[in-house]
Amino acid sequence: MKMKAFSTALVLLVLASVPAVFAVNVDGTIASGEYSKQAVFDKGNFKLLWEFEGDKVFMAIVAKTPGWVAIGFNPSTVMAKSDMVLGLVKDQSDVQAVDEWSSGIFGPHAPDVDKGGKSDILSYAGTRTDDTVVFEFSRLLNTGDQLDNVIPTSGKFKVIWAYGPSLDVTAKHKKAGSATIQMEGQK
Ligand code: HEM
Repeated sequence: MKMKAFSTALVLLVLASVPAVFAVNVDGTIASGEYSKQAVFDKGNFKLLWEFEGDKVFMAIVAKTPGWVAIGFNPSTVMAKSDMVLGLVKDQSDVQAVDEWSSGIFGPHAPDVDKGGKSDILSYAGTRTDDTVVFEFSRLLNTGDQLDNVIPTSGKFKVIWAYGPSLDVTAKHKKAGSATIQMEGQK
């Protein structure tokens, strides 16, 4: 009997020391409850979902477009000084994620790696179904790169969103906009 109680206590101890299983799976699909926060733009044609895990942020973009999708963090004016992540999803096996920085009001924006910074996207994936693209990525909240902006876990935060008409990243957006989102989720 004593042995059984000891084994039970041991099992409980082991279970308690196992870290919580990550909720977000960066696989290009979004399971119910995978992300706890979201903001909807362009009458539902562009949806941003996000989740924090430790010092990382996981984001997903769900948009109706045959083209590229992008999210920008904390611009000054229009696109200027915005840290951007662009997703190019042709299909599940052909996905690119580009960490960029827009230096001017209407660009130009270039990959961080071309301007002395680094690519800070830790993981990414995407899928396409009919007219909808899903693009997921993760990165550190504070990458330490001068060509990235720090993403806060609470409070108001300005973002810009855009999607293109094609997978040509030099093609100007079909639609773009800016919004102030509540990082801990809508209140
Ligand atoms: C792909 C190359 C891009 C080009 C050539 C481009 C160019 C421009 C230009 C010329 C404007 C001025 C307004 C207009 O003519 O519509 C503009 C506005 C804007 N862009 Fe871009 N852009 C690009 C990518 C992006 C990306 C990746 C984002 C977001 C991450 C973005 C966000 C915005 C926003 C929010 C505005 C203001 C829209 C408004 O107020 O209606 N752009 N862009």
